[in-house]
Amino acid sequence: MNEKKEVGEKAVEYVKDGMVVGLGTGSTVFYSIAKLGQLVQQGLSIQGVPTSEQTAKLAREFGIPLVSFKEIEGIDVAIDGADEVNPDLNLIKGGGGALLREKIIAKAARTFIVVADSHKYVDTLGAFPLPIEVVPFGYEMTMKHIRELGGSPNLRQTNGTPYLSDNGNYVVDCDFIEIKDPIALERELNIIPGVVENGLFVDMTDAVITLDSNKNLITKV
Ligand code: A5P
Repeated sequence: MNEKKEVGEKAVEYVKDGMVVGLGTGSTVFYSIAKLGQLVQQGLSIQGVPTSEQTAKLAREFGIPLVSFKEIEGIDVAIDGADEVNPDLNLIKGGGGALLREKIIAKAARTFIVVADSHKYVDTLGAFPLPIEVVPFGYEMTMKHIRELGGSPNLRQTNGTPYLSDNGNYVVDCDFIEIKDPIALERELNIIPGVVENGLFVDMTDAVITLDSNKNLITKV
């Protein structure tokens, strides 16, 4: 069974004709985008707002019309993946580096749906290193301030050079081991000069589509 496909396709049930849809980034929401593409070919009329250049390319390949924020009033529903989900439906996101645009779109959406295979569930967030987008200028100092909050930051690299986000920033993957208070940490990180955004998505999720221990599709709200 392909869990990512199951949950990704299920989420598409939230999308209705005429909606503006936030399109997430990653290997799970890939299946939502592919399914939406099929439905568009069959006559569904939607407009997509992509969370990354990678997703914009994918959506174009699947024939989903895209719009920018200046053309819309808001987003009806956004669908996205997660790296970790806790029992309060708080998330770690940004494994794919798209956390900033993902958070802007999740915040803009009236309904934010997360698609997560059964391996994404944790009691406490933090085993997955928290992605933090930082501006390149002075990033060494920004990392020092992150360290003072108890994290072990590592600059994300591709073939020995810093990874660049779609926004031209660096991403630091930060090991906090256990994030006991995600609400506080999200705020504390974002007031460090040089931090653009972090991958803690707190109190944003309306529903998580996943599978239970018997591999049945379930929706957690
Ligand atoms: C992208 O930046 C991330 O936030 C993804 O949504 C997250 O990493 C989940 O990706 P997968 O669905 O590929 O596990």
